[in-house]
Amino acid sequence: MSAQQNVVVAVDGTSGSGKSSTCRAVADRLGLRYLDTGAQYRAITWWMLREGVDVQDAAAVAARAGEPDIVSGTDPLGPTITVDGTDVSVEIRSDEVNGAVSPVSAVPEVRTRLVDLQRAIVGDGGIVVEGRDIGSVVCPDAEVKVYLTADPAARAARRALENGADDVAATEASLLARDAIDSGRAVAPLTVVDGATQIDSTDRTLDEVIELVVGLVMERV
Ligand code: DC
Repeated sequence: MSAQQNVVVAVDGTSGSGKSSTCRAVADRLGLRYLDTGAQYRAITWWMLREGVDVQDAAAVAARAGEPDIVSGTDPLGPTITVDGTDVSVEIRSDEVNGAVSPVSAVPEVRTRLVDLQRAIVGDGGIVVEGRDIGSVVCPDAEVKVYLTADPAARAARRALENGADDVAATEASLLARDAIDSGRAVAPLTVVDGATQIDSTDRTLDEVIELVVGLVMERV
C-alpha cells in the first residue's frame, strides 16, 4: 500500500470556513475516504433533542451519551449519517440542532464516545477528517494538518447560501456564538496545533483552497 493510501489529513477550523467542500473534494481527488465529525456531533444532538433531554444540562446529556448508535458513511461523493438506522443528514442541519450542538459537544462523555468512534473509522488511514479537534486529539499523528478559516462575514454568506437562509446577519450571529463556545470550552477546544498549515479562505476560491491542500498532501507523503 502506498503512503498516500494510509495518509491521514486532519482539517480543523471554524464553522463555515469551507471545510466540508474542501475535504470532500480533496478526498475525491486523492482516492481517500472522508469523515465529517461535525455531522456526528450534530447527530447525537439531534437524538438528545428528540428524546427530550435538556441539552443545557451536562449531567443529563452525559447520562445518555452512550445510547444512540451513530454510523457514518465515508464516501466523499455521498457521505451518510444515520442514528439507530435512520438517515438524519437533513435533520442535523436544522436551526434547532445549530442552537444545541455546541453545548452537547462540550460534554466530556459525548466527546469520549465520538472520539472512540472516529478513531475506529480512521483505522489505518487513507482518510480526510474534518472537525475542531482532529489534529489535536483525534489524530495527533496525522501526516497533514490544516487549520481553515475565513472572515465571519464570508463564512456567514456561504453558510446562508448552502442552507437557503436569507438572513445572513442571523447566520453570522449563530456562527459566532458557536465559535465562542467551541473555542472556549474546557475539553478539546478549537485551536491551531503545532505543525498545522493555516489557510484563510476569505479571498480564495474553493478550487484554490483544494489545490493548496492537495499540494500539502503530495508534498508530505
Ligand atoms: O463542523 P460543524 O459546524 O458541522 O460542527 C458542528 C458542531 O460540532 C460545532 O459547533 C462544534 C462541534 N464539533 C466538535 O466539537 N468537534 C468536532 N471535531 C467537530 C464538531
